[in-house]
Amino acid sequence: MNDPPTTSKSSHLLDGHYSISDLIDMDRLRPVFERFCQFTGYGLAFMTYPDEELLAVTGWREVCFAFHRANPASAGICFKSNSALIAKASKPGARVIEPCGHGLIDGAVPVILNGKCLAVLVTGQTFFHPPDMEHFKRQAQRFGYDPDKYLAAIRQVPVVSEAQFGIILSFLGDLAEFIAYLGYHALALRAKVETLTKEIAERKRAEEEAQEYQQRLRRLALQLTRAEDRERKRLASNIHDDLGQVLSAVMMQLSVLRQPGDPVNRAGEMEVIEDLVKRAVESTRSLTRSLSYPALDDLGLPACTELLAEDIDKLYGLKVKVLGVKTPIAIELRALLFRSIRELLVNVAKHAKVPAATVRFSRRGQATRVMVNDHGKGFALASLGSDSKQAGFGLFSIRERLHDLGGRVAIRSAPGKGATVMLTVPDAVFKKELPGAA
Ligand SMILES: Nc1ncnc2c1ncn2[C@@H]1O[C@H](COP(=O)(O)OP(=O)(O)O)[C@@H](O)[C@H]1O
Ligand SMILES: [Mg+2]
Repeated sequence: MNDPPTTSKSSHLLDGHYSISDLIDMDRLRPVFERFCQFTGYGLAFMTYPDEELLAVTGWREVCFAFHRANPASAGICFKSNSALIAKASKPGARVIEPCGHGLIDGAVPVILNGKCLAVLVTGQTFFHPPDMEHFKRQAQRFGYDPDKYLAAIRQVPVVSEAQFGIILSFLGDLAEFIAYLGYHALALRAKVETLTKEIAERKRAEEEAQEYQQRLRRLALQLTRAEDRERKRLASNIHDDLGQVLSAVMMQLSVLRQPGDPVNRAGEMEVIEDLVKRAVESTRSLTRSLSYPALDDLGLPACTELLAEDIDKLYGLKVKVLGVKTPIAIELRALLFRSIRELLVNVAKHAKVPAATVRFSRRGQATRVMVNDHGKGFALASLGSDSKQAGFGLFSIRERLHDLGGRVAIRSAPGKGATVMLTVPDAVFKKELPGAA
C-alpha cells in the first residue's frame, strides 16, 4: 500500500492560493451528491487532498458506520485502507477500484485542476461477487459484532458489475472537475475585476490630485495678481505722497525764484530746493530698492542675504547666520533664490518660534544648493498638501518657480523637530555663466 506523497501544503494549492473549498460551492454540490446516492444506491465521500478533510459524505453503508467504523479495532483498518485509496487516486487520470481491509469494494477518483489534485471523491461500498458469508461470520466474531445484525448489514451491500461501477465513478470525477473548473474561472474573473477596480480607483485619485494641483495653481495665479495690484497701488501712493509732493514743493520754490527780489533771500530758497531734491533722490532710491534688487548683480546673493538677515533681525528679531558666502551663484538664479530665501526666513520668523536660523550656500556636484534650517517647532509634511485651502502659497510657489528651472525643493521636518528646506538647482541651464565668486 502506498503512503500519500509528502509535499509541502502550499504546493497543493492551485496558483499557490486556492484550495478546493475556495473553488467549489459545497452547498450546491451536496444536493447533487445526495440525489446521486438516492438514484444509484452508492455512498459518496468528498475529501480535500492532501489534508483528507471531509467536505461531504452521503449514503454511507450501515455496515461501515454502525460496525467497521464504530469499533476502534476495525476502524483502524478502515482509516488505513482509506488513506491508501486516496493516495493512489491523487494521480491525474486515476480511476482506482479496490477492496477495503474488510473486503468491501471502494472506488476513488481525483479532482484535478491545472494538473493538481485538489480533492478525491470516494464512492462505495459494493461487491462484485456475492459475499462469502462464512468470512463475515468470522469477522463478527473477531471484532465482537452482533452476528445477525452484522450479516444483515452485509446483505444490504449491493452486488454490481465492475464495468458499471467504473462508469459511475468516472462520471462523478468529471462532474466534480467541471464544477471546480467553473469555480476557478469565476475566481479568476473576480480577481481581474478586483485589479481593474483598484486601477480605476488609482486613476481617479491621480486625476483628483491633478485637478487639486491645477486649482492650487489657479489660486496662486490669482494671489500673485492681487499682490501685484497691491504693490502697484502702494508704489502709486508712495510716488504721489512722497516724490510727487517733494517735486510740487520744488516747483513752488522755483516759481518764487523766478520773481525779482533780493539775491540773499534767493540763496535761502536755493537751499530749500537743494534739500527737497535730496529727499527726491532718497525717495527714488528706496522706490528702486523696493522694485528690484540691483545689489544682487553687484554684491552677489550671499552678501545680499547678509543684508536681508539684518532686515529680518530688525523686523522680526530673528538672528540669521549666513554660511558658505563664497559660493558662486549664477546671475540668473539670484533674484529667484533671494525671494525664496526671504520667504523661508519669514516662515521661520512666523511659524517656527525660534530666535535663530541658518542659511547655507553650497555646491553639490553640478548644482547650486541653498539650505534654510531652523530648530523650531517644525510641522507635519503631510499637512502641507492636505488642507489646501488653509495652506499658504509660500512653499508651493517656491517649488513651482524652481521646478520651471529644473530645480527642486526638499523639505525635512516633523512636529517638534525643526525644519530644513533645501533648494537645489542644477547648472545645466547656467553652465556658461557661473562667475568666479559672487
Ligand atoms: N520653518 C517652519 N517651521 C514651522 N512650520 C513651518 C515652517 N515653514 C513652513 N511651516 C508650515 O508650513 C505651512 C506652509 O508654509 P507657506 O507655504 O510658506 O505658507 P504660509 O507661510 O503662508 O502659511 C505654514 O503655514 C506652516 O504651518
Ligand atoms: Mg510662508
